[in-house]
Amino acid sequence: MKNKITFTMIKPDAVENGYIGLILDKIIKSGFNIRAMKMINLSVTQAEKFYGIHKNKPFFRELINFMTRSPIIVSVIEKKNAVEDFRKLIGPTDPSKAKEGTIRKLYANSVGENAIHGSDSNENALLESLFHFSKSEIFNK
Ligand code: RTP
Ligand code: MG
Repeated sequence: MKNKITFTMIKPDAVENGYIGLILDKIIKSGFNIRAMKMINLSVTQAEKFYGIHKNKPFFRELINFMTRSPIIVSVIEKKNAVEDFRKLIGPTDPSKAKEGTIRKLYANSVGENAIHGSDSNENALLESLFHFSKSEIFNK
């Protein structure tokens, strides 16, 4: 595989608001190829593990309640420079600071409920992808 991968989640707010199709369309039209994808309900244990780095933050419990309240779409996507380009495509954590045309500007409502996740490094992209998919589901294509 020549391209790099990143990991994304379409978060509960965006799924509830009916934005799955629009967000996937934007991702694909931005040049990303989908390698693996599924809709899941994150358990509290899974959410606490996934966001373990934030466990001492004041918003941690709110974040876990949010991420487990309805289904999410988890996906491994690929493109040259995937991690950086995808973070640009989604925009900053706070959607009110996001540029026109970014996914968070278009589809997110608040810092807490911000529609989409994107890995912040190549190392985390792999760890997060393997949190939800086996190696063969990601790479044997
Ligand atoms: P993500 O990991 O979900 O892609 O988001 P991010 O890198 O832009 O932001 P990060 O600092 O990793 O925060 C993870 C998620 O926690 C929620 N959050 N809430 N209420 C708050 O002040 C607050 N701050 C962060 C958001 O859902 C954020 O995406
Ligand atoms: Mg993050």
